[in-house]
Order: sequence, then structure tokens, then C-alpha cells
Amino acid sequence: MVKKIIFATANQHKIEEVQSLAGQDFALLSMAEAGIIGDIPETAGTLEGNAMQKAEYVYRRTKTACFADDTGLEIDALGGEPGVYSARYAGEEKNSKANMDLVLAKLEGVSNRKARFRTVIAYIDDDGGKHLFEGIVNGEISLAGHGQEGFGYDPIFIPEGCDKSFAQMKLSEKNLHSHRARALKKFTEFLNTR
Ligand code: IMP
Repeated sequence: MVKKIIFATANQHKIEEVQSLAGQDFALLSMAEAGIIGDIPETAGTLEGNAMQKAEYVYRRTKTACFADDTGLEIDALGGEPGVYSARYAGEEKNSKANMDLVLAKLEGVSNRKARFRTVIAYIDDDGGKHLFEGIVNGEISLAGHGQEGFGYDPIFIPEGCDKSFAQMKLSEKNLHSHRARALKKFTEFLNTR
């Protein structure tokens, strides 16, 4: 029997990405398909807290298995910033170029450029059981942006062991390293053992 799981995201691209990893035994439903309209609150202050807050919001209304994700770029020399504020680091307009410019300005003259992307997935099963999955990719912030692929901070993030940024990679290559792919792999492996 196909198992229905709601993905608490407004991003259709993410739904397709996870559906392709989860396989045919699972039917991922969007929020609209689950009858949930409008923005879900994200006020917890940590990636784990935000992901669980979003999943709980949907579970309370549907009592159906559901999950949510939250991702942040954590830069050592900035005390873990932008972290949970990654999307709106330079302001509410969520502008990637402005966010990257702010990071590069804050790191001007700083030699420690170590950083990581971290994704947390929070899953609530049909019975209300809660589970967290984490995916990390370590790397460093380059001196300037390079590449046109991807989104967000991809042009300034060089994953460990690579000599180019995420924005200089096709999605298939980025997925070999990426935080989101790693978290999704743990999550879908978990689903497939249930
Ligand atoms: P979200 O939780 O997936 O919406 O991610 C929050 C923010 O982190 C995004 O708005 C981007 O700025 C940044 N981000 C998340 N994933 C990536 C990525 O794979 N590459 C670059 N930036 C990312």
C-alpha cells in the first residue's frame, strides 16, 4: 500500500526531489493537497526547532505523517551565522546576492573561512512519534562568488575536497556532497525500513 506523507514546504521543486528519492511506496502530498493554506510559523531559533515547529503545525491539523526541513549556512568565524537566519541575513527581501555580499564583507581580511551547510529534517509519523535527521557538508567561504548554478549561497561555498563552488556544479554533482541530499538519504532510508 502506498503511504501518504505530507511535506510541509511551499517549494514544489523540493517535493519532486524527495519523491524521487523516497520511491513509489510513498506519495508525498504538498501543503495545498493536504488542505493547508498560508505560511507556517518558523520562530524557534534553531534549525531543529524550526523544522519540528513546521512539522507539528501540519500534524496538529491533519493527524497524518508529515515532515519539514530547515537549512542554514554556519560560518565558524561568525559564531555560526547566518545559521537559522540564512534566508533573510541581509533583510526581509531574502535577496541571495545581498546575503552573499554581507557574508563576504564580514569575512574581509579573515583567514578562517571554514563553514558548513546543515539541513535538519523533522518527521512526525502517523502515531505522533518524532524523529530528526541531519545532513552536513563542510567547506569554506571563497573570497568572491563563482558560478551560475544552484541558488542561495552556492557561488561562495566550496565543499571540502573540491576546487570549485556549488554554483560551478551541475545538480547531480552537488548532490554527491550536499547537506540536503545527505539528510534526505538518512530520512528515506529510515522510511524504507518502516
Ligand atoms: P531552507 O531552509 O531550505 O529554506 O534554506 C534557508 C536558506 O539557506 C535559503 O534561503 C538559502 O539562502 C540557504 N540555503 C539552503 N540550502 C542551500 C543550498 O543548497 N545552497 C545555497 N544556499 C542554501
